[in-house]
Amino acid sequence: MAKKRVLSGIRATGRLHLGNYLGAVKGMLALQDDPDYETFYMIADLHTTTTPFEPAELKKGRREVLLDYLAAGLDTEKSAIFAQSDLADLHAQLAFYFSTVVSVARLRHLPTFKDKVKQYPGQVTMALLNYPVLMAADILIYKASKVPVGIDQEPHLEVAREIARKMNSKYNLNFPEPTRFATKGEHIPSLTGKGKMSKSVQGSYLNLTDDLPAIKAKLAKVPTDAGVGDLKYENVPKGAAEKLKYFGVYESKQTKESRGVAVLMLLVEIFQGKERKEEYDKQYEGEGISYQKLKGELAKAIFEEFKPIQKKRKEFEEKPEYVEKVLEKGAKAARKVAEITVREVRDKMGI
Ligand code: TYM
Repeated sequence: MAKKRVLSGIRATGRLHLGNYLGAVKGMLALQDDPDYETFYMIADLHTTTTPFEPAELKKGRREVLLDYLAAGLDTEKSAIFAQSDLADLHAQLAFYFSTVVSVARLRHLPTFKDKVKQYPGQVTMALLNYPVLMAADILIYKASKVPVGIDQEPHLEVAREIARKMNSKYNLNFPEPTRFATKGEHIPSLTGKGKMSKSVQGSYLNLTDDLPAIKAKLAKVPTDAGVGDLKYENVPKGAAEKLKYFGVYESKQTKESRGVAVLMLLVEIFQGKERKEEYDKQYEGEGISYQKLKGELAKAIFEEFKPIQKKRKEFEEKPEYVEKVLEKGAKAARKVAEITVREVRDKMGI
């Protein structure tokens, strides 16, 4: 049986943060090592231009993402690793064809679009509106059925599925309806205790390249409560906290402190295991938690995972010619597949 395809990408906005790593890269690694899948991983540098950017920073950002990809374990022997811009002729072309089956109203109502409009009110461009259509083209050009991304990308995947259905029924094509491959870290909240971990919010994130003192200093600032209480996280029903928080429900019932505790507990669970988290839960209801101690141990556990990644990153930084070649090789492999899809779509559309 033919292998199922996977595509994912990260915008070229610089070094990856912990949210990118846990929500996207971890899933990319898991699927890369699964023999049932053929994996395509790109640097979404065209998408980076949908919000204000500096050309020189874009170039740097592309390199930073590539180095982080390689350091984290994306492997050219197992995956096609490429820059979206190296296939701009095909991805942007398919996005244009896709845009013929999507209404402006559908795109204007997406929560991700509305967020960006709030963030950059003077820069509401066609490129920004079209962001999900280009993303659908990125995925469907490889006929990918699995997409390892964080939960914030779900509305975009919904658009991709709609486009697949419409193109299939209108032009007798056979696009799969892509679904998200979720990881434990599908939604990493901000270290500030408000919103999600994001590159655009200072103090909200850890970088994969942070050393132990930097991680400690950032965790030290996470707001916490007194460390004792009957009910965790301000009466939010068990299990619902993470999901509902993302959608903004319960936001009013929660304090910044309780949300800070929630992010610490999630990170404890991810980096130190479920049992450790349950011990803290017990302490919370009993003798109380020392957050200072918790943060120190958690910082160490996170750094243990970052250490080998940082070591590999240094090695790749010293081999710039090799790193350049990675994208060439990846683009070649990706192009082979992408060309076939674009030709097929043009044929069926009578172009
Ligand atoms: P970007 O750069 O905004 O995000 C990259 C990836 O990181 C995930 N992520 C998070 N996951 C968990 N918790 C967080 N706090 C967090 N912050 C970010 C995102 O969900 C994403 O997986 N639109 C994509 C780029 C893209 C793409 C594609 C992805 C372009 N074309 C095709 C998949 C398939 C994006 O959001 O990038």
